[in-house]
Amino acid sequence: MVSDLDINKKYNAATLSLVLHFLDDKGSKLGLLNDIAQRLVPGSEFVIFDITGDESQIANNLKVLKSLLPDGLDSELIDQRLTRIKNDFFIVSENRLSDLCEEAGFEKPVRFFQSSIYMGWLTKKS
Ligand SMILES: C[S@@+](CC[C@H](N)C(=O)[O-])C[C@H]1O[C@@H](n2cnc3c(N)ncnc32)[C@H](O)[C@@H]1O
Repeated sequence: MVSDLDINKKYNAATLSLVLHFLDDKGSKLGLLNDIAQRLVPGSEFVIFDITGDESQIANNLKVLKSLLPDGLDSELIDQRLTRIKNDFFIVSENRLSDLCEEAGFEKPVRFFQSSIYMGWLTKKS
């Protein structure tokens, strides 16, 4: 866990890939972002990959994801997985992710990548 890392040792960069959507937005997302920010020197680059979007974006982008899957897969299983993504994960909007990053001590993040529901964000420790 990030919180186990010595807070006095500072790093020059960090990545957080496909983790945030597993964490609730009642303090867990912010807690992890804070833990990371506290271990970076100012100006350090921080890259986040995550499932991001408001309700309508996620609904639309799940359709895109489904259309990208190869033929021949079990369609019932696919629908179960896509429903799980929508209902069981803690997905936040782009604005909320931006606010969380800024609250944790990062600059406003810039989205540099998107493929269906997956987005890549670049920011820096303030
Ligand atoms: C989809 S994997 C991503 C792994 C890796 N970061 C990557 O991009 O290949 C999700 C990761 O989230 C971590 N994870 C899930 N729930 C978590 C939690 N509550 N707190 C911290 N990490 C969690 C899991 O340990 C797992 O490594």
